[in-house]
Amino acid sequence: MRMRKKKNLIPRLERCADVLIAEPREYRGRFSELFSRNAPLYLEIGAGKGAFMRKMCAREDRDFNYIALEKVPEALIMAMEKAKAENIADALFISEDAALLSEIFSEGEVARIFLNFSDPWPKSRQAKRRLTHENFLKQYKTILAPDGEIVLKTDNPRLFEFSLCEFSKCGFVLKELTLDLHNSKYAEGNCTTEYEDRFVSLGQPIYRVIAAKRA
Ligand SMILES: C[S@@+](CC[C@H](N)C(=O)[O-])C[C@H]1O[C@@H](n2cnc3c(N)ncnc32)[C@H](O)[C@@H]1O
Repeated sequence: MRMRKKKNLIPRLERCADVLIAEPREYRGRFSELFSRNAPLYLEIGAGKGAFMRKMCAREDRDFNYIALEKVPEALIMAMEKAKAENIADALFISEDAALLSEIFSEGEVARIFLNFSDPWPKSRQAKRRLTHENFLKQYKTILAPDGEIVLKTDNPRLFEFSLCEFSKCGFVLKELTLDLHNSKYAEGNCTTEYEDRFVSLGQPIYRVIAAKRA
């Protein structure tokens, strides 16, 4: 996501200090201490402006704590400001690159990972940058709980196909696969992202799969 430089970024980030985990490595293995309730931890990677997070955390049946990770501060600040404006509880942010995840979370600490409309990096030489490259998947597998899952949504058939191969290569079990989420039995209860709304309005199908650590 290319974003314009934001005015007053530093003071704005400072005003969001209560929702930003500034030194996440200090909480490795004890992120649960940061939340008011004892619940499974959901992690969204590449949260963008945070629409998905806000919808997920507003669900009436919510039974999880939530961390949104985003590496671009210009997107992160918008997500944090909107989350604060909506007074969302038990939802925090980390400003980091997903490549460093295993420094941040300990083994088995995360119940669910969401990868929503990750950058496709279409050229073969860019494959290692895709967030479903096996180098990333190995880290996700380590930080996921034994019954943990990755939920992937994308508009990009090539990234989807690549991801299915990488999941299988890393021993994940594929579930609830659909090539058209919005016209499938899984549409009900789906929380959309900013990118998803845009692609759906253009009539594009959304690909979705759950990759589980065990069957
Ligand atoms: C195409 S946007 C999608 C944003 C949002 N998930 C949505 O669906 O509307 C991809 C987002 O992932 C973030 N991102 C890409 N690579 C990342 C990485 N290695 N670590 C953390 N965030 C990353 C980008 O900065 C961008 O905000």
